[in-house]
Amino acid sequence: MYKGKLITFEGIDGSGKTTQIRYLESFLQSIGHEVLLLREPGGTKIGEEIRKLLLDMKHQEMTPETELFLFEAARAQLVREVIRPALQEGKWVICDRYMDSSVAYQGYGRGLPVRLVEVLNSLAVDEMTPDLTILLELGPAARAERLSRRHDSGQGDRIDVETERFKQRVCEGFRAIADAEPSRVVRVESLDDKEETAELIREQVRRVLL
Ligand SMILES: Nc1ncnc2c1ncn2[C@@H]1O[C@H](COP(=O)(O)OP(=O)(O)O)[C@@H](O)[C@H]1O
Ligand SMILES: [Mg+2]
Repeated sequence: MYKGKLITFEGIDGSGKTTQIRYLESFLQSIGHEVLLLREPGGTKIGEEIRKLLLDMKHQEMTPETELFLFEAARAQLVREVIRPALQEGKWVICDRYMDSSVAYQGYGRGLPVRLVEVLNSLAVDEMTPDLTILLELGPAARAERLSRRHDSGQGDRIDVETERFKQRVCEGFRAIADAEPSRVVRVESLDDKEETAELIREQVRRVLL
């Protein structure tokens, strides 16, 4: 029904998503696909406004429920305004975070009922479930070291300044998703060698989608 493919990247902040998405984009283009890169929250005018609300450090009073609804609202807009039309046109869409981040962050991290998060996810994404999800995994020490060297990190945003215990729960959530849906979600270790990691990801893409 849809000619294109949807690939999502998940994993905690600093796990290498943005870096690896660029490698995969080049690879897919080199074999002749038209690629569209998106990030969540964002990717639409409404979504970028919601992104500002969600990440702004000044909104410390935001409740977990509000946070969940805002992510789902941005996602619903992105799916209908951008992702579905792109897939219909045959594009390969790569999204930096998607529905699994809500289960991991708002469910496991914030403690909202995972079943409810899944129900809202299904409303937001409709039938646009990813064809493949790459879960990038990296231990806390290596992650801290990489983030300390990242030049774009600035002051951090409202969600990445959370505690290490929160981040551990998020990682546990991602692992639980991968265990529950092994045919869609593939765990890939974010190695120190970026090119080697990119090859591990290309192997998964070839195996599942090409
Ligand atoms: N394999 C790697 N080895 C060392 N540093 C890396 C590696 N991959 C990414 N980085 C660096 O780690 C930081 C976080 O990576 P990034 O791709 O921005 O992660 P994310 O998008 O998941 O937050 C960046 O500064 C990036 O350049
Ligand atoms: Mg990133």
